[in-house]
Amino acid sequence: MCGIIGFTGITEAADILINGLASLEYRGYDSAGIALVQDNNTKIIKTTGKVADLRDKVTATDNTYGTCGIGHTRWATHGGVTETNAHPHQTPKLTLVHNGIIENYKELADDLATKGLTPVSETDTEIAALLIDSLYNGDPFEALREADKILEGAYGFCVMFNDRPGVIYSMRNASPLVVTHTADGSYIGSDVIALIPYSKDYFVVPEEHIVVLEKGAVTLYTMDEQVVEPKMLHVDWDTTAAQKGGYDFFMQKEIYDQPEAVKNTILPRIHNGKVDFSADKINDELFEGVNRVIVTACGTAMHSGLVGRSIIEQLCRIPVTVEIASEFRYMNPIMDEHTLVVIITQSGETADSLAALRLANERGAKTISIVNVKGSSIARESDYVLYTHAGPEIAVASTKAFTVQCCGMYLITLKLAEVMGILTDEEIADYLARFVAATETIPAVLEMDEYIQSIAYKIKDTFSAFYIGRGLDHAFGCEGSLKLKEISYVNSEAYNAGELKHGTISLVTEGVPIIAIATQDHVFSKTMANVEEVKARGAHVILITDVTEEEGGYAGLYDDLILVPKCDDFFGGFATTVAMQILAYHTTVYRGYNVDQPRNLAKSVTVE
Ligand code: F6R
Repeated sequence: MCGIIGFTGITEAADILINGLASLEYRGYDSAGIALVQDNNTKIIKTTGKVADLRDKVTATDNTYGTCGIGHTRWATHGGVTETNAHPHQTPKLTLVHNGIIENYKELADDLATKGLTPVSETDTEIAALLIDSLYNGDPFEALREADKILEGAYGFCVMFNDRPGVIYSMRNASPLVVTHTADGSYIGSDVIALIPYSKDYFVVPEEHIVVLEKGAVTLYTMDEQVVEPKMLHVDWDTTAAQKGGYDFFMQKEIYDQPEAVKNTILPRIHNGKVDFSADKINDELFEGVNRVIVTACGTAMHSGLVGRSIIEQLCRIPVTVEIASEFRYMNPIMDEHTLVVIITQSGETADSLAALRLANERGAKTISIVNVKGSSIARESDYVLYTHAGPEIAVASTKAFTVQCCGMYLITLKLAEVMGILTDEEIADYLARFVAATETIPAVLEMDEYIQSIAYKIKDTFSAFYIGRGLDHAFGCEGSLKLKEISYVNSEAYNAGELKHGTISLVTEGVPIIAIATQDHVFSKTMANVEEVKARGAHVILITDVTEEEGGYAGLYDDLILVPKCDDFFGGFATTVAMQILAYHTTVYRGYNVDQPRNLAKSVTVE
């Protein structure tokens, strides 16, 4: 949600900034801009549209020299998508880029107006810039420290003061920022993806700290100006992992990354037929005495929580609730030291999930997060973290992150069952073998790509679609439906198959696609009865199942059949998920939309 980049060094900054913004574009693509320090002036070039438009504008601009600069790609929150609202923002004393939301910007604006400081844009960011400007009397630390006390909300700032050319000051609250330094200079960005062309070693800017970037060094300070050593991290993937690698879109590549991502997430955690979290430093005591589980997350990650609920309740027989993170902290949730709160997040920075975690910590619950991005805020603040090893996920629509999050939930469930004494050693070994086998169905579904594409062609012009299934099939169907909706703009909803006739079936008319998922043996015939109901009303039924026509006796009930490999009733869902991802992908390509950058969305939602 907005991408920030900054560089100061001995080489030209413009290309570094624009390339950095291109890699951060998944965080927002409403407008983009850069600011370059030149002699006694700071030159700003900005535009609405994509980073490619900015690149063209920079190429067409004379004199884009300068070895220090900052840049920004915007996901609009306050103020429309206009060039004036694009960052960087400039005041008489400074130039600034911001990621986040300043919640008290209205009262600050009123106050600043009384001092004659009025913004030209409609953004909360410019108010923050004016505030820092009003507090600046030659001491950047003092201005930032005072601003930090006054500002409410989420922010990551990079600030260049006019009278300190070549130096970038940065601080953050909630919004992520990472830093690296090489012989060429110092770099800062919202995500390590922007830094890896230069270095694989970096640190996360801690909250309540100020980082100073100069060409020869990066220095981290506490708010009261004590120098502290940053905690260095290392990225274990390289730039190729963050490139399309011959695929048309990142989403397509990431769908194909799944067999590897799943293996990397599961296999290191299975030893001698048991779930082994020792390398993750997750002690069994986390699971001891747990009598209730709450899973909290947003969007796709929340859907992996639905999978978690189904499997934990089935196996461990303890109640599990799945709470949407944006609601969690406002519902006064019940939890105590026997409650295990699981936070699931790809980015580890989602503002609502972070707030949910903080509340769980405050209330004394045990917390574990399932996170993809190393060193992210949620990973750092939870009692324990189980990293998924999906590598960078760049497409806004999550695919491989979802499958590995489900893997994380399965691993936690089996560990819980072991600690609770529910399964014997042999049973655990058997479950694990079935788990691995279930994930090994993914490549066979990837081979069905062209066939699924032909089905996508048939539904490409639809206005709406419904995903139906029962139990685990429904949990995975929720994710399938979100995938289609968010990238193709088809009005798609997922329902428990039996629920359709309590209202929604009135929307089922001739040709409306119904994607029916039926892999759960114990409810197969029930789901097929619901399929009959929609077929009788003229729906275009796309049946996704592991039961052959001969076994299932469903001849005549579908228009298109996606017969996936046999799915285990407990671990099912990997194959159907991949089929639904491919369907959503091709439908979107046929509809002519940018698969990786759906309108109005951004990958990392760091604002409430
Ligand atoms: C949808 C999607 C989002 C995210 C959600 C949470 O494809 O990606 O729904 O799942 O915004 O993001 P993380 O997992 O980063 O907390």
